[in-house]
Amino acid sequence: MLTAAANEMLTHTGPGTPMGNLVREYWIPACLSSELKADGEPMRLLLLGEQLIAFRDTDGRVGIMEHRCPHRCASLFFGRNEEGGLRCVYHGWKFDVEGNCTDMPNVPAAQDFKHRIKAKAYRVVERAGFIWTYMGTREQAPPLPALEVLNLPEDQKTIRVHQRECNWFQSLEGDIDTSHFGFLHIGGLKMEDVSPDTIHKWGVGDRAPDYKATETDWGTMYAAYRPADAGDLYYRFAHFMFPFITLTPNGFFEDQVACTLNVPMDDTHTMVYNLTWVKKTAPLQTLKNGDWIPGLEPDTEYLPNTNDWHGRHRLVARRENDYFIDRQAQKHESYTGIQGIGRQDQAAVECMGEIVDRSLEHLAPSDRMIAITRKRLLEACQKLMSDKVVPPLVDNQDLCRGARGGAFVAPEKQDWLDAYADKLQTALSPLGLLNRLPLAAE
Ligand code: FES
Ligand SMILES: [Fe+2]
Repeated sequence: MLTAAANEMLTHTGPGTPMGNLVREYWIPACLSSELKADGEPMRLLLLGEQLIAFRDTDGRVGIMEHRCPHRCASLFFGRNEEGGLRCVYHGWKFDVEGNCTDMPNVPAAQDFKHRIKAKAYRVVERAGFIWTYMGTREQAPPLPALEVLNLPEDQKTIRVHQRECNWFQSLEGDIDTSHFGFLHIGGLKMEDVSPDTIHKWGVGDRAPDYKATETDWGTMYAAYRPADAGDLYYRFAHFMFPFITLTPNGFFEDQVACTLNVPMDDTHTMVYNLTWVKKTAPLQTLKNGDWIPGLEPDTEYLPNTNDWHGRHRLVARRENDYFIDRQAQKHESYTGIQGIGRQDQAAVECMGEIVDRSLEHLAPSDRMIAITRKRLLEACQKLMSDKVVPPLVDNQDLCRGARGGAFVAPEKQDWLDAYADKLQTALSPLGLLNRLPLAAE
């Protein structure tokens, strides 16, 4: 459980809040590159509680700026995106992507003061299918994230995006809450129903594993482990990475080049991006006869996007329709009666309410990763606030190259971190960015 004050610090990311300051130390994925067209419609963008406008100018450059015009605060959403800038329709002032006022047509030339006007605009970089923005205070922005999957070329990765109507950290906690997998997703599945050749069968046969968890240079990591064949353990490793990234154990360690980004839109809405290397092996999703595990076949349908601040990437199955829960299916087919892993996760994290009251919880040993991740983030917030200590990874993005999520089998007598370091030696790394850490024994 957390006190109300700690919960507030953890969850609130608006301007001036401790967590807001921490997240603003990093580059943030603002939207997909494909969402903005040259001279196309300006887009309302909500990031960390700030109402912004994103647009792509005639030359293809992207601007992200405060939505209120610096003149008399009309919204630049209604602006004309033309000839290298965004022109406010109220009195015609025009701004380039850096926020410079380039035209002030309602003022006589002799009184023009456009050189003194600047809209609040954030730095923008376009890379890896995303538009990234830096909302922090440094003159020199820090390096971009170095995580391998983010840097894969467009044809080497898939990006899925959807909005969650709950706090960003609540959404993230769902990614590092490993013990739910055996219930929410495969609660009705028996070991004899899955292929005897898959190592994942060990996870199906034992729903109450033991856990190891530790702080890392990039955040936190855990391994859930249970017995496999005699003398071996079946491990599932996962990571939290500052400020809002997770590497879940959803597949084989060898080729699991993937991550999830939980980007706070405001304190009660989160944009979730799932990135996956196209050559990654599929996770456990079928029975031994090749059919879908009941309840796991994806059923992802989106509402049409609107211009609302919360109008992008919303799912049809949502809180208002109880995620189309089917009670008959719940009784006879799947554990939840809710169709699809993603929808099951969405239901679990949203049904707690927009910002869960963590003073009501009773954490179990299976929640150790969640507990140390909260502590790690809160301590980083405190240190930034009191001693201006730069949080992890901001200046050392290379450190994240030691992180990989996924499942493998290793000898029981080997230390868990040695087993992890060992597996990194042979894991696939399409861009060669995975660290080949020295083995502890060397
Ligand atoms: S309010 Fe934008 S030009 Fe006047
Ligand atoms: Fe899940």
